[in-house]
Amino acid sequence: MTIECPIYYQEESVQHWLDAFAQQCPHLDVKDWQQVAHPEDVHYGIVWRPSAEFFARFPNLKAVLNLGAGVDGILRHPQLPESVQVLRLENAGMGAQMNEYFAYHVMHYHRHMDRYNAQQNNAQWQVFPGQPAKDFRVGLLGLGELGSSVASCLQGFGYTLSGWSRSQKTLDGIKCYAGAEQLDQFLSEVDALCCLLPLTEATRDILNKENMSKLPKGAVIINAARGEHLVEEDLIELLNSGHLRGAVVDTLRTEPLSSDSPLWRQPGLIITPHCAAQSWLAPSVEQISNNIDAMLAGQQPSGIVERNRGY
Ligand code: NAP
Ligand code: GLV
Repeated sequence: MTIECPIYYQEESVQHWLDAFAQQCPHLDVKDWQQVAHPEDVHYGIVWRPSAEFFARFPNLKAVLNLGAGVDGILRHPQLPESVQVLRLENAGMGAQMNEYFAYHVMHYHRHMDRYNAQQNNAQWQVFPGQPAKDFRVGLLGLGELGSSVASCLQGFGYTLSGWSRSQKTLDGIKCYAGAEQLDQFLSEVDALCCLLPLTEATRDILNKENMSKLPKGAVIINAARGEHLVEEDLIELLNSGHLRGAVVDTLRTEPLSSDSPLWRQPGLIITPHCAAQSWLAPSVEQISNNIDAMLAGQQPSGIVERNRGY
C-alpha cells in the first residue's frame, strides 16, 4: 500500500499518517508513495487530492481510499482509471466537529452575536429581542453522514430543522425534502441555510443568486461543503443588498484564499480556513485498515463511492 496526502492540514505530514498506520495496523505495509521501490506491486492507495503523477506511477491499483469525506479531488483527476474503486471516510471524527461548527455559527446569528459585535465596534449598548430556538428555522442541504449529524445536534438545542437530499428521507422531527422539484419549497422556509453537500455536477454553483434569493429576507448561509457550491459574486450582491443578513464560508473556490481577495473585507461575511472538520488520525486509520482487510478477504468495504453520481 502507498500513501500520498500533499498539503492536507498543515500540522500533519505523511509521516504522521505512516506512524499511525504502523502503530495501529502493523500488518499493513504502508509506504510513502515516493519511497515505493516496486510501484507495480501496489494495489491500494491512500490519498487526499492525488497529484497529477499518482495514477500513472501505480499501474495495478485496485482501490484508492480517501483521507477525507469529499471525493471531488479524486473523481476530477484526469488519470483516475475506470477500474479503480474509490472509497471515502465516513465520519471519522468529523461528525462531532461539524456539530460544533454549525451549532456555534447558528447560535451566532440566532443570539444576535453579529449585531452585538457590530454594536461593540461603535460602542453601542442595545438589546435585540430574543427569539425561542423553535422559531429559528435551520435547513440542511445534504442529509448524509455529516448533514444528518448536524441536524440532530441542532434539534437538541430546540431549533426547527429541515433538510434536503437526493433521495427521500424520514428523520424524526426533521422536515425532509428531496430532489430538484422540492428545493424551492425547502429554501423558502429556512432562516439559516447550512450546506453539507458533496461537490458534484448536480450541486456545483447551487448557492447562486436564484436559489439564495428564494430564502426569506434576512436569512444566513453557512457553507462548510466546497467552495464551488457557492457563486461568490452572487453572495456579495445579496449581502450588499441586505437580502442576506450574513454568511459563513469554510471553503472557497480557491484555497488558500489570496490575501488580496476582497472577500476578506466583505461586510457580513465570516471566513474560516477549511477547518470545520478534520479527519482524526485514529478513527481514519481504523476505518481504512478495516476496509483494506475487507477487500483483501474478498468482502465488501464500506464508504464505496458511486462514481456515476459523484459521491
Ligand atoms: P454524504 O454522506 O455522502 O452525504 C451527502 C448528502 O448530500 C446526502 O444526503 C445526499 O443525498 C445529498 N446529495 C448529494 N447530491 C445531491 C443532490 N444532487 N441533490 C440533493 N441532495 C444531494 O457526505 P458527508 O460525509 O455528509 O459529507 C458531505 C460533504 O461535506 C463532503 O462531500 C465534503 O465536501 C464536505 N466536507 C467538508 C469538510 C470541511 O472541513 N469543510 C469536512 C468534511 C466534509 P442522499 O442521502 O439521497 O444520497
Ligand atoms: C474535507 O474537506 C473532507 O472532505 O473530508
